[in-house]
Amino acid sequence: MEDERDHDTTSSSLPFLSKQLAGTTLGGSADVPVVDLSVSDEDFLVHEVVKASEEWGIFQVVNHGIPEELMRQLQVVGKQFFDLPEAEKEIVAKDGDFEGYKRKYLGGINNWDQHLFHRLSPPSIINYKYWPKNPPQYREVTEEYTKHMKRLTEKILGWLSEGLGLPREAFTQNIGGETAEYVLRVNFYPPTQDSELVIGAAAHSDMGAIALLLPNEVPGLQAFKDEQWLDLNYINSAVVVIIGDQLMRMTNGRFKNVLHRAKTDKERLRISWPVFVAPRADMSVGPLPELTGDENPPKFKTLIYNDYIDQKIKGWALEDLPVY
Ligand code: OGA
Ligand code: NI
Repeated sequence: MEDERDHDTTSSSLPFLSKQLAGTTLGGSADVPVVDLSVSDEDFLVHEVVKASEEWGIFQVVNHGIPEELMRQLQVVGKQFFDLPEAEKEIVAKDGDFEGYKRKYLGGINNWDQHLFHRLSPPSIINYKYWPKNPPQYREVTEEYTKHMKRLTEKILGWLSEGLGLPREAFTQNIGGETAEYVLRVNFYPPTQDSELVIGAAAHSDMGAIALLLPNEVPGLQAFKDEQWLDLNYINSAVVVIIGDQLMRMTNGRFKNVLHRAKTDKERLRISWPVFVAPRADMSVGPLPELTGDENPPKFKTLIYNDYIDQKIKGWALEDLPVY
């Protein structure tokens, strides 16, 4: 696997060019929803996150309980890693798998980023050789952040399950419970003068179930809704929640697997820290029986997640169509 934009087994996908080029009008009136998790009325939260997942497939959460200091530390160690001399970063370079450090890449469609990609959980699948040893705090900070990511993911999946009349654990269990796979990518987008042409991350939906993304203060993430690309407003300490293909498939299309992309900035460095949560590779994933019936027959095939990945990659190779 020479580049995960071509062979990403975890998250993103190739662009579908038609949508990449369509609807370039920016700044529509509707705003990506923001959900304040400090509200004590759980029914209200359930309602809000379900509505956002149905209508948008993307929303931001604030007052989520992740210590601000920890988020800041994660950002500091990530930036420190990318500031190292190239030779030091090469120590954790990719060597055949999707994990590791990758220098900037300009593909057929202009993708301009560098990234560090590695698994976080479960412990049995972690390859520490891809975790930077420098800066020395990298591992401790990342492990602590992982605990919070798991907690928040399970909380959100719990609300989403309840909102659809399922037991709280339903979505978490359907991606493997404790064996669900958590992967971090640190996206590093240097400024580009030609930011109209050079896109940071091309339009894609995330392959897994859900992703929790921490951006730095430089805006760039956009979501496609109602034929328009909409900018996400930067909110200090917010986490962006992105619904991926598998939650869309499990809910038989009720939740949206939002199409999104990232632009580079002309002057400022943009960095983002998405954590992708995906089913264990051997899990069967498809529309949940509780969410389908005579009135609502399954729209998607139930597939082993690993086979889904293969099909999606094959689909990209053949044509520009999303594979569900
Ligand atoms: C991704 C992604 C967006 C961003 O890495 O899958 O959508 O803001 N990144 O960097
Ligand atoms: Ni993405």
